[in-house]
Amino acid sequence: MVDLVAATADHAEAFLGWRSETEMMRFNPLRAMSIEGAREHLGSCSCDLSDLQEGVTYRWIILSEGVVAGSVALKEVNLMMRVAEVSYGVAGSMQGRGIATQAVRMLLDRVFEQTALRRVIAYVHEHNAASCRVLEKLGFEREGLLREHYLIRGEPVNEWVFGILAREWVRRG
Ligand SMILES: CC(C)(COP(=O)(O)OP(=O)(O)OC[C@H]1O[C@@H](n2cnc3c(N)ncnc32)[C@H](O)[C@@H]1OP(=O)(O)O)[C@@H](O)C(=O)NCCC(=O)NCCS
Repeated sequence: MVDLVAATADHAEAFLGWRSETEMMRFNPLRAMSIEGAREHLGSCSCDLSDLQEGVTYRWIILSEGVVAGSVALKEVNLMMRVAEVSYGVAGSMQGRGIATQAVRMLLDRVFEQTALRRVIAYVHEHNAASCRVLEKLGFEREGLLREHYLIRGEPVNEWVFGILAREWVRRG
């Protein structure tokens, strides 16, 4: 069973653990982060979707059968456009069990029930097949390839942009 719980500073060590794994670093543009930085970041995150604000990251820790497995976040909120971005990561030892798919599904249920957001997007490294699969299983459209959209460890990389609209999520329900 997958649960989402509020991310807190106490999750810093686990958070840094999966954040420093090879696949995570290969596919994501991550700033170096100390344990203090991770505590500060997690402490600054919200999980109150009723108070949606620009510049705030809304983050949950994913529990699988009560064990910390990863995290899922809503960020880059644009209140004027009513769009935001989803991101997620699961520890290597917990991958391949449907955890990310379930966690993103739970987050989108909350987002489209509790906020006025009308579109959620995700950027995915062009070779990150597992992440593309998670989004496709959830009904996201693969909308296009953004050329050299990110710099990852100094290298320009192409990113798929995936999107799902609130009305599509409702239809799926
Ligand atoms: C992407 C990630 C979150 C997936 O987590 P997960 O819990 O293993 O995901 P799920 O088990 O829900 O689904 C993964 C799907 O990808 C498939 N998959 C895994 N590796 C794959 C590969 N190399 N090629 C194609 N499909 C692959 C799985 O078979 C599964 O699909 P299925 O249910 O049809 O069999 C995890 O690999 C991760 O944290 N990666 C590093 C961080 C990252 O890239 N985050 C996403 C940023 S956009």
